[in-house]
Amino acid sequence: AETVPPQGQEHAALPDFVNEPDTDPALPANQRWAAEALARAGEPGWLEKQSLPEKISGDRIDELVAQTRTAGEQWAARPAVERARILYRAADILASRRGHLVSIAAAEVGKSVAQTDPEISEAIDFARYYAHSALEIEKVEHATFIPDRLVLITPPWNFPLAIPAGGTFAALAAGAAVIHKPSNHTPHCSMAILDALWEAGVPREVLHGVYPFEGEDGKRLVSHDGVDRVILTGASETAAMFRSWKPQLQINAETSGKNSLVITPSADRDLAVADLVTSAFGHAGQKCSAASLGILVGSVYDSERFRRQLVDAASSMVVDFPSNLSATVGPLTEDPSDKLKRALTSLEPGESWLLEPKQLDDTGLLWSPGIKDGVKPGSFFHLTEVFGPVLGLMNATDLDEAIALQNQVDFGLTGGIHSLEPVEVSEWLSRVQVGNAYVNRGITGAIVQRQSFGGWKQSSVGLGSKAGGPNYVMLFGRWEDDDAGS
Ligand code: ALA
Repeated sequence: AETVPPQGQEHAALPDFVNEPDTDPALPANQRWAAEALARAGEPGWLEKQSLPEKISGDRIDELVAQTRTAGEQWAARPAVERARILYRAADILASRRGHLVSIAAAEVGKSVAQTDPEISEAIDFARYYAHSALEIEKVEHATFIPDRLVLITPPWNFPLAIPAGGTFAALAAGAAVIHKPSNHTPHCSMAILDALWEAGVPREVLHGVYPFEGEDGKRLVSHDGVDRVILTGASETAAMFRSWKPQLQINAETSGKNSLVITPSADRDLAVADLVTSAFGHAGQKCSAASLGILVGSVYDSERFRRQLVDAASSMVVDFPSNLSATVGPLTEDPSDKLKRALTSLEPGESWLLEPKQLDDTGLLWSPGIKDGVKPGSFFHLTEVFGPVLGLMNATDLDEAIALQNQVDFGLTGGIHSLEPVEVSEWLSRVQVGNAYVNRGITGAIVQRQSFGGWKQSSVGLGSKAGGPNYVMLFGRWEDDDAGS
């Protein structure tokens, strides 16, 4: 029998969904392209010439909410195929601006080309994938999808292109109007996404970028009666704060993680080391998906060779600002939080430094990777998200104990296992409490459609369906039976 075709293949109205490829860094032409993009980012005053969102506060917030709601009605009334085609156009525009987007992320938050490039592919994928979702939703028989009228998108700074893009595209695909409040660190990145949408044909009145606000203005917008839903990617504390402002808030939030990679004695250890350091230290560990713990089972924990390999791999990473094309670990985006400072500068009982992190310059933002050995069950580092370039190693006598350590944390975002033993892998998969469970690969860098992204436990608030997956767009509204009332 034929297998079921991937989502979207039956929609003649749109090209088939295919993941956008990343730029191949091995090609000399691409290395020149990257160098040019970074040189542009380094020009004094270049970033300031890029567009910024509208500054709003006070009564203007009420006015904007009312206007955008009204515009949302017309957006929702359009056939889904029109919205879908606009999203496809936005994807093409983003694809044609890859170098520009790399420059903005480098200039705004010091993100490296190697880290930004896949993010751009992901943003493009989100646009095309959710375009297909819009058509899927319209095809459902005997029920009608009623989109939210107005959605507020509040993205983070660590994926300053893909995450702002994902929520915004999904809301627009559903038929909702959008107010987009970028992270205060990355308004230019957000605007680069919104610019592509406006150029692709999203009416100005349907989509607004607003910036910045603190305190009362933020509260006024988030808890506004005219906002039907808030999409947040950020700390669990932020989600809790939003809810304290408005208990009945419809919020879908992807929040913190404390993620680990289990390595069993059967693993391909070379591969495991490479995946562990990339997942731990890519973007200086500033990913909700980052590996913060390596849980080493039995003889792996006892192996001096494994430790040496791990230290060699981590210390060979080049830590620098993105203008250095060889840099594999970039700067922190903001001064280390108290939790991160504690993780970078102190040890808990029983821990020792396998590789001590060093502050490399006086900005306070460049830190070399750190590896802590002997992290104890139930300790600060076992259970706390630190969001920076520190990896802790834990010892498990067997897979059972490894899974228990992994599941002991309150969060459940990503997790991984390196094992070449099928029985171990299936046992792990059936018991690990994470949204994204990866086998024999790193635990960051989910790919749209192939690895829809989202967590459970305290990594998720109101998110029954994952980003880049088949039901995500349906979050942005509700269904009514066509024969309602009977
Ligand atoms: N979606 C991002 C990742 O998978 C957070 O790393």
